[in-house]
Amino acid sequence: MNILIIGSGGRESAFAWKIAQSKQVSELYIAPGNAGTGQYGHNVPIKATDFDGLANLVLTKDIQLVLVGPEEPLVNGIHDFFLNHPELKHIPVIGPQKAGAQLEGSKDFAKQFMQRHGVPTANSRSFDKDTLTAGLAYLETQKLPIVLKADGLAAGKGVLICTTLDEAKAELQAMLLDAKFGQASSTVVIEEFLTGIELSVFVLTDGEGYKLLPSAKDYKRIGEGDTGLNTGGMGSVSPVPFADEEFMDKVETRIVIPTIEGLKKDGIPYKGFIFIGLMNRGGEPYVIEYNVRMGDPETQSVLPRIESDLVDLLRGVAEGNLTERSFTLSPKTAASVVLVSGGYPGDYESGKAISNIENVKESIVFHAGTQEENGVVKSAGGRVLAVTALGDSIFDALQQSTADAGRIYFEGKYFRRDIGFDLL
Ligand code: AMP
Ligand code: GLY
Repeated sequence: MNILIIGSGGRESAFAWKIAQSKQVSELYIAPGNAGTGQYGHNVPIKATDFDGLANLVLTKDIQLVLVGPEEPLVNGIHDFFLNHPELKHIPVIGPQKAGAQLEGSKDFAKQFMQRHGVPTANSRSFDKDTLTAGLAYLETQKLPIVLKADGLAAGKGVLICTTLDEAKAELQAMLLDAKFGQASSTVVIEEFLTGIELSVFVLTDGEGYKLLPSAKDYKRIGEGDTGLNTGGMGSVSPVPFADEEFMDKVETRIVIPTIEGLKKDGIPYKGFIFIGLMNRGGEPYVIEYNVRMGDPETQSVLPRIESDLVDLLRGVAEGNLTERSFTLSPKTAASVVLVSGGYPGDYESGKAISNIENVKESIVFHAGTQEENGVVKSAGGRVLAVTALGDSIFDALQQSTADAGRIYFEGKYFRRDIGFDLL
């Protein structure tokens, strides 16, 4: 079959790398892809949000399955667009329709969903411009620190952790009155701050059954020792050592099953990945967020551990028989280290020539923000590459990926040398 992957980041590179290994695939297309995805399939310069362009590609290249990488096209309704298109409605799309994508597209929706279906999460209340006074009064009754979340998509920037009441009040006003995060902050969720260790759990569902994919831990801060500004993710490790059988049983019975059953009860069709961001609070899992896609850079650690054909699982989603499918998992640990442009997550320079990737032999180098110009691979984004190694122990994997991250060069390159070391 011919498959199209939509997106251009490290996550999509990992999907392309994995799907290209499948014997079930004839032609693989990536739109728009990056300088690395061309090794695995055909890059096509169509943006992830250009639905008409993508529709045309699917029809002209006889594509039989579409995998959507990022959240934006899902929240904008790409799956619905296909279903409403007479020539495309039979083409399976992996990724939820607009209704399900609200789990990520609206934090208020996600909180109400969790409350309705008894999924453990932090206490919260939502406010808008009309209820600002009540919101300010509510803040007075809450413990510090307190978390303020823009309801809509804000490119990973819409969550503020406020340590004083004055700061929380000022931020609530800035979000509701001054549109600090644009339309995304026209509603704000005020949420109790949870302490604990974060991890992510990934679920693939056809709307009826589900498969629990490997857990992963993501390192969000720019600085070593988890300091400095938030980023899209500086590295990841899979599996997460503290996510043992007992903990994962709790995750499955208290969170995964109620989530899948909740979608069914609410009449929300869902075919795709669910990324559950969790806080392990003294051995008890709480949901921090849902995302309606895989994580980046978690995918770069999760997929290399899946030994069997991923296309089998994707076909299970497409055909609605996922429960009949199975997959095999490597017992090894995967560690990914992300190489970013100097200055990221603030202003950074692009267009720097990248050298020495060919000298990395023991790790997989997944491209993210890269572009080819006259045969030279150059940086073209904040997160540029992810270097993933598998090892018999977490230590081996980390040593290899960190060493290989050091082998690659571009001007201003930065990476964290402490990814995963908190888990040793
Ligand atoms: P999100 O955009 O929902 O992933 O939030 C970004 C980050 O903020 C998370 O990865 C957490 O580190 C942190 N965070 C979000 N909600 C909470 C909470 N209720 N308690 C503590 N930290 C939180
Ligand atoms: N790594 C976090 C995310 O993909 O949202």
